[in-house]
Amino acid sequence: MQYRRLGSSGLQLSALSFGAWVTFGSQIGRSEARELVAAAWDHGVNFFDNAEGYANGAAEQVMGDVIADLRLPRDGYCISSKVFFGAAAEPAPTQRGLSRKHVRDACDAALKRLRVEHLDLYFCHRPDPDTPVAETVWAMDTLIRQGKVLYWGTSEWPAALIREAAQIARTHHLHGPTMEQPEYNLLRRERVELEYAPLYAELGLGTTIWSPLASGLLTGKYADGVPARSRLAQPGMEWLQGSVLGEGDARLARACRFTALASELGVAPAPLAIAWCLTNPHVSSVLLGASRVSQLLQNFEALTLLARFDESVWRRVEAATA
Ligand SMILES: NC(=O)c1ccc[n+]([C@@H]2O[C@H](COP(=O)([O-])OP(=O)(O)OC[C@H]3O[C@@H](n4cnc5c(N)ncnc54)[C@H](OP(=O)(O)O)[C@@H]3O)[C@@H](O)[C@H]2O)c1
Repeated sequence: MQYRRLGSSGLQLSALSFGAWVTFGSQIGRSEARELVAAAWDHGVNFFDNAEGYANGAAEQVMGDVIADLRLPRDGYCISSKVFFGAAAEPAPTQRGLSRKHVRDACDAALKRLRVEHLDLYFCHRPDPDTPVAETVWAMDTLIRQGKVLYWGTSEWPAALIREAAQIARTHHLHGPTMEQPEYNLLRRERVELEYAPLYAELGLGTTIWSPLASGLLTGKYADGVPARSRLAQPGMEWLQGSVLGEGDARLARACRFTALASELGVAPAPLAIAWCLTNPHVSSVLLGASRVSQLLQNFEALTLLARFDESVWRRVEAATA
């Protein structure tokens, strides 16, 4: 495993980390979840990602149980949660968003479900147009001073809002955002490469990027339709089909050109797509998702490909998916 600093902070996260979205508490059972966390840990993963909204809190519960069961040393791994969407099936106004009340309630609930005394990373899962940014910055700072959170950050916030939060923190001597969690893959590059570009030097922002395989599209598994056991076939995931497969054939065609190039290079597409994410030095950690251990093991090969291929290969990969 390779370890990278989370922006300009002193926290070193594994370059490949592991998240619970769709799978934990929903698509897979507890024993599969346990095997996945154990395999990730055995391969040097030290960051496990979660959110209050994943399976309405069930993902956090399963992850907390499994990590406790595996007896992972608390000082050897980092765990995250995210606040915004709420954990209730139909959240009341006080059970969602980024108000001081919900930020505190959601943190306390995540600590219980994950069975830990602090969250290493805590994300504002989306911007909240109904809460002043200053209220959220103060609420996050309070959690850090209480020892319930170590680093706070954002997920899919516009650059201007991240800058505003950082400015408020600076003015009032509060802890500002350390990291952002954006989608980043060969089919979605703009935000990480262009919009956030000034923030890396300006704020020392780190990134823990999600969906490196575009929910599996870059493995080539959706080239001939939606396979029965795949993410897009899961009940309740119909909404995801539109954004993953896209309107028309453009995304699918780009994914097909990518898998054709992977086959020409003689490598599996999944680790190639993940390794490409790691070529960006502003990526602190690539969050992997997996529904079975064999996928995770294949995805860890990304580190070998990263060392093996040079700039000319990465330019071909980018040209194929342009
Ligand atoms: N902050 C946010 O808003 C946000 C949003 C999304 C995700 N995230 C985080 O980022 C993590 C990773 O995102 P993601 O799960 O979307 O990542 P991803 O790598 O794009 O998709 C993972 C899925 O692709 C399939 N897959 C993975 N490896 C494969 C392989 N080698 N061969 C074939 N299929 C493979 C599996 O689905 P199937 O086997 O079911 O097809 C797996 O669950 C999440 O768990 C979550 O922690 C955050």
